[in-house]
Amino acid sequence: MGDRKWASAPSRETVADWDRSHLWHPFTQQRDWCREEPVAIERAEGTDLIDAEGRRYIDGVSSLWCNVHGHRHPLIDGAVRGQLDRVAHSTMLGLTHRGAAELAARLVDLAPPGLSRVFYSDSGSSATEIALKMAFQYWRQRGGQHTRRTSFVSLRDGYHGDTLGAVSVGGIDLFHAAYSPLLFQSHRVEPGDADQLECVLDFHAEEIAAVIVEPLVQGAAGMRVQPPGYLRRVRELCDRHDVFLICDEVATGFGRTGTMFACEQERVAPDFLCLGKGLTAGYLPLAATLTTERVHDGFLGSPEEGRTFFHGHTFTGNPLACAAALANLDAFESEDTLLRLQPKIRLLGELLGPVAEMPEVAEVRGRGFMIGIDLGEHDPTIRLGHQVALEARERGAIIRPLGDVVVLMPPLAISAADLRRLVEIVAASILAACAAATDEPITAELAQAA
Ligand SMILES: Cc1ncc(COP(=O)(O)O)c(C=O)c1O
Repeated sequence: MGDRKWASAPSRETVADWDRSHLWHPFTQQRDWCREEPVAIERAEGTDLIDAEGRRYIDGVSSLWCNVHGHRHPLIDGAVRGQLDRVAHSTMLGLTHRGAAELAARLVDLAPPGLSRVFYSDSGSSATEIALKMAFQYWRQRGGQHTRRTSFVSLRDGYHGDTLGAVSVGGIDLFHAAYSPLLFQSHRVEPGDADQLECVLDFHAEEIAAVIVEPLVQGAAGMRVQPPGYLRRVRELCDRHDVFLICDEVATGFGRTGTMFACEQERVAPDFLCLGKGLTAGYLPLAATLTTERVHDGFLGSPEEGRTFFHGHTFTGNPLACAAALANLDAFESEDTLLRLQPKIRLLGELLGPVAEMPEVAEVRGRGFMIGIDLGEHDPTIRLGHQVALEARERGAIIRPLGDVVVLMPPLAISAADLRRLVEIVAASILAACAAATDEPITAELAQAA
């Protein structure tokens, strides 16, 4: 008989103990994490997450902005199970498979015109890293003066992932500043200010490979919305200077802003379109970098010419993930997801009206189902956004803030009733957390006086 220590169903305490002893959570200060009681999600139903004690929570941030049609969707579950009966994984290096090929064709069909090639990877960070590398290598291979195009233009407060290339074009100091000695320089411009971009391109275009933007909404910046017409002007300026435009739609893609892709709203076709998160409806890790025939053809040649794109991950184009992504697209069609989303976007706008009027709220902003409720400037040691999330959890919703910006990003499939309940919970949680935060110093003073 072997040691059965690992075989039995562990208790809640054991899970918490293993977590505190052995896990290291992403974007998390472990010291604070280990002081709190962790919620362990056991299963899910539709747009509810259910913990090990059977408590239900509305998935208010779509499991980090990626869930689309709800959890355990029969169509997607069935597609993944069906694929499991065939093969879970085979490589894209030297082989292909039906799912990867069909998904590429369908993505090209959906994407803005001109994007005809699909390069798979497994995270949003990789999708943007790949676009940067492709743009850089393309110009190198063009030769002559184009080899000087080794730099990028990116937006202040931009976020494109956590690998070093993506961090180099990132603009959120809290996340990125620590790595500055490791990064390549990029020209950082003010989001929404096309004139500034024009200046940078007028002076530096000959050394710029691409401009990278999150179209319409800068998510990680706290749901910062760009003015109408901005993206269109960025495209025009890139065209004028023959600089590539990379649209990072890892967060905005797959219906988040109300259309399949955000760049459609400004009738913009980028040279690179980066997709992740919602690509598999939030089921499995799959990302894609779409580009043009022009870029693809710039890499053609005999092997000795060194024009091959030497980049690829073990799980690139994983068949289970492709099956989930195909079922995701089927669900968009068969459930009219985008059509049914429109009244819910309007409802969300109406529900947020009174929230914006709350004295505790500085601003409500966003587009479609990408909302940031900004609580204004507060002492960071209070962690007000986090306190709101804890209050929301008590009331039956999982949300995760960006600093003191409360993020609402429900799955597109959420019912009107749950959307109402989510906003009610969030409003009540903001009130409770702000009341507690303003109470605290008084309590502390009183305690001192006592
Ligand atoms: C716009 C954008 N790009 C890239 C990423 C990175 O994606 P991933 O976390 O899958 O690496 C994110 C993640 O939030 C994102 O919002």
